[in-house]
Amino acid sequence: MSTEQITALVTGANRGLGRRFAEELVARGAKVYGAARNPESVDIPGVVPVQLDITDPESVRRAAEVADDVNVLINNAGVSTRAGLLDGALDDIRLEMETHYFGTLQVLRAFAPVIERNGGGRILNVLSVLSWVHPQSSGAYAAAKAASWAMTDAVREELAPKGIHVAALHVGYMDTDMVSYIPADQKTDPGVVAKQALDGLFADAPEILADELTRTVKAGLSSPRS
Ligand SMILES: NC(=O)c1ccc[n+]([C@@H]2O[C@H](COP(=O)([O-])OP(=O)(O)OC[C@H]3O[C@@H](n4cnc5c(N)ncnc54)[C@H](OP(=O)(O)O)[C@@H]3O)[C@@H](O)[C@H]2O)c1
Repeated sequence: MSTEQITALVTGANRGLGRRFAEELVARGAKVYGAARNPESVDIPGVVPVQLDITDPESVRRAAEVADDVNVLINNAGVSTRAGLLDGALDDIRLEMETHYFGTLQVLRAFAPVIERNGGGRILNVLSVLSWVHPQSSGAYAAAKAASWAMTDAVREELAPKGIHVAALHVGYMDTDMVSYIPADQKTDPGVVAKQALDGLFADAPEILADELTRTVKAGLSSPRS
């Protein structure tokens, strides 16, 4: 798949990492749909805005109808409530699952047939190092990302015979609104991460581990628990 043949849809394309994905895909010569809850907030030159709330089935259905030439899907949209599992609001815990797990799955289920009809392609799910590290301070987020990791692995197997490659991006802190409370020297540049993730996706990598922390954590998964 050369970049000129790519028609991509990026969820949460109005800001943060999603915006960087959309900008990078345009720079590589792709046609890009920038999906956002408020499409008017998508102001990237060359990007076609599309209304999409990934937790709203009707909105997802409409987006898949409008963007019917897509062959690359970037499931980027996400939230972070920082809710703990025992003392956090249940609504926040549900929102994390509804967004990262059910929302991402819903978009994937709507667009997989579109990508298949268009001759196959690629899907990237944006996950986190917190798929594998589960601190109590982000219990709800980590549980939702861990569930999305399992979902990503299962659909990779299911979609491979249909000519659709599914990849996961795992990454630590990036400099976006989501973690504005974290000091700048602990965050990576989302523009660099977007480039790295797209390089991995188009090289058919199943997992892109974007930073040293993420690579160290993944390598340590087989170590005995301390
Ligand atoms: N920042 C980090 O340190 C970090 C680390 C690891 C992984 N991640 C993951 O990276 C992805 C992007 O996050 P970010 O850092 O760019 O965060 P961000 O700056 O807070 O942006 C989040 C994006 O997701 C959108 N979104 C949230 N809920 C949505 C919904 N129901 N439907 C459609 N769009 C929705 C937001 O849209 P609105 O503008 O409408 O709110 C926004 O565009 C997320 O999956 C996040 O979990 C982030």
